[in-house]
Amino acid sequence: MKKIAILTSGGDAPGMNAAIRAIVRTAIEKGIEVMGVRRGYSGLINGEIFPMDRHSVSDIIQRGGTILRTARCEEFKTEEGRKKAANVLSVFGIDGLVVIGGDGSFTGARLLSKLGVSTVGIPGTIDNDLTYTEYTIGFDTALNTVLDAINKLRDTSTSHERVSIVEVMGRNCGDIALHAGIAGGAESIIVPEKEFDADELCKNILSGRLKGKMHNLILLAEGVGGADKLAKRVEEITGIETRATILGHIQRGGSPTAFDRVLASKLGYKAVDVLMEGKSSRVVGIRDGKVVDLDIDEALSMPRTFNEDLFEIAQILS
Ligand code: ADP
Ligand code: F6P
Repeated sequence: MKKIAILTSGGDAPGMNAAIRAIVRTAIEKGIEVMGVRRGYSGLINGEIFPMDRHSVSDIIQRGGTILRTARCEEFKTEEGRKKAANVLSVFGIDGLVVIGGDGSFTGARLLSKLGVSTVGIPGTIDNDLTYTEYTIGFDTALNTVLDAINKLRDTSTSHERVSIVEVMGRNCGDIALHAGIAGGAESIIVPEKEFDADELCKNILSGRLKGKMHNLILLAEGVGGADKLAKRVEEITGIETRATILGHIQRGGSPTAFDRVLASKLGYKAVDVLMEGKSSRVVGIRDGKVVDLDIDEALSMPRTFNEDLFEIAQILS
């Protein structure tokens, strides 16, 4: 392995920069040249490729977003688009590609490896929706952002004795809602993985009031959606003023937490190691607290699991 490239793809996540820094510095230390690809697969197809050195990743470990920029690229979903990308890599003399992104980006990497490119994926998404790894880069930072918002919302909803419904990101995965709900002491957590009954929710709100609860915090995952509609319904049924807050893209920004920086550094280092071992079509992640690499097909075919124990704990503690 003489020359590798890095790209970030799909939704950005805090900690992607720390991963880029780790890849660049590890590769250079091991005598490998590193190229950066701008704008994900779209930049790869268009040859937006430039050399990177130790200095090009200075002062980025603390920054959110991605210095490489990111994109969603429809052309890469076609065989023709991927052939163009493989050709660009060959023209630049690049032997290996590190893809930082989520499951969509990994699917792209898997298909690209079938065209002879050595690929390794690093999980970078706030959603934490990749079963094969216990954590994805950006999840912890997003959780802390949500927690900060919840703390603020608590002040105002307590003062007004209101119900506050907070919609958080995560696509079809309820992990952000579940973890932020526990950490923020939410009364209810609504996730796509569990059935939900609005009447039951209203009953709980009313019985909470009878016991002296002066406010209610409800965490709603975007995969269930409809925060505004739910707020109206809760207000109609309970007669208690209810407000919805959709946190949106604020959850994807900000300086990465120490946890995400360390995770990104370990995974970036491991990705270079995997390419140096001559492996291809791999992903790196955390399993049983250890850094591992797995075959990408195996990783992507693992059925999604939901942490039922944590959900149970959340219900008992609410
Ligand atoms: P994420 O990686 O965060 O899941 P997306 O699902 O938006 O984000 O995927 C990011 C990009 O990965 C897409 O815009 C596309 O370029 C590529 N990609 C996604 N799915 C596929 C696929 N089935 N085949 C080839 N490339 C794909
Ligand atoms: O995958 C990360 C994510 O932030 C999801 O939580 C969310 O559904 C989606 O990306 C939003 O995408 P966009 O940036 O295109 O609005």
